[in-house]
Amino acid sequence: MTGKMVLDPRDRGGAAQPLLIARSLKKYFPVKRGLFGRSSYLHAVDDISFSIGKCETIGVVGESGCGKSTLARVLLDLLHRDSGELIFDGEAVGGLGGLSHRDFCKSAQMVFQDSYASLNPRLSIEETLTFGPVFHGMKRGEAKDRARGLLNMVGLEPRRYAGAYPHELSGGQRQRVNIARALSLNPRLLVMDEPVSALDKSVEAQVLNLLIDLRQRMALTYLFISHDLNVVRFMSDRVIVMYLGQIVEFGPAQSVFSQAKHPYTQGLLASRLSNNPDERIESAPLNGDPPSPIDPAHGCRFASRCPHVEDVCRTRTPSLPDMTSAESHGVACHLSDLGSGHSKAIQ
Ligand SMILES: Nc1ncnc2c1ncn2[C@@H]1O[C@H](COP(=O)(O)OP(=O)(O)OP(=O)(O)O)[C@@H](O)[C@H]1O
Ligand SMILES: [Mg+2]
Repeated sequence: MTGKMVLDPRDRGGAAQPLLIARSLKKYFPVKRGLFGRSSYLHAVDDISFSIGKCETIGVVGESGCGKSTLARVLLDLLHRDSGELIFDGEAVGGLGGLSHRDFCKSAQMVFQDSYASLNPRLSIEETLTFGPVFHGMKRGEAKDRARGLLNMVGLEPRRYAGAYPHELSGGQRQRVNIARALSLNPRLLVMDEPVSALDKSVEAQVLNLLIDLRQRMALTYLFISHDLNVVRFMSDRVIVMYLGQIVEFGPAQSVFSQAKHPYTQGLLASRLSNNPDERIESAPLNGDPPSPIDPAHGCRFASRCPHVEDVCRTRTPSLPDMTSAESHGVACHLSDLGSGHSKAIQ
């Protein structure tokens, strides 16, 4: 997975120490129901724990509204978490004596889906790329040299593009600029929220290959969100499957895609395979919509759509095993827990 890993000179804890550990992260949005209604909470990220190894790519999949973007923002401390811990290369993020937001920000950056909205239309590409480094104290001349280096690195000829403005570029070129900007502070972690979803297929492939190349050249670690399972399979070492604010399955990409254990993951894969007549569908594709994420009921959140639902699913909440080992494949489902009381449980 992490193969011949070349460690970053800033590394603290060695290859075995995860780059980022997320522990019991929660982000609830308050929602008001009616004029005098009691306050309710939308459970966007609901007790999520996992770790990202150094130079690893973790893919995140799940239907619209399951909390992928909220998780990305909470992971980067762009959105304040209600509770939980973030540990970056052994150091707590935030809190007294922890890594400051400013320092964490230099080490962990985000790339968004909308390449145009992410860029300031009034700044040239060079100004866009020098802004962050100058803000963080780099001399302007040095920042300009760095910007040109970054443009080269993302495949945009500096002489042609440094003075250009966002509207003069194609979607793929703008996304290359966004990637260069994310790299301008020399981060170790990039969180990418649907970075290629707005691009044509041929441009998408070029940008994905660029990301793979950059990851190797700069010893980067990626968290890659996409609703496209094929893209996630292509990019990721491990995959997180999210449903209604929680992780329902997590494991090596190869294992999750070929031996999905959660009926939700099986449904997602079947929905994808059903587009391809050559691939056999063994499980039912997903039907219906997820229930409301506002004050979700006890029990398994997938129970209302699950073809294997039994009473135990509505009364007991299945838990995900501790996901600290890189090789393990975990699932939060009573079917995969022999002692759960589900009549079809296997291990
Ligand atoms: N600022 C906010 N205030 C209130 N609710 C929010 C806010 N941001 C997100 N939500 C809600 O949180 C839930 C998760 O949203 P999120 O955008 O993280 O989902 P997502 O998985 O990224 O979806 P998509 O695939 O459509 O991008 C949704 O129900 C959404 O409506
Ligand atoms: Mg999103």
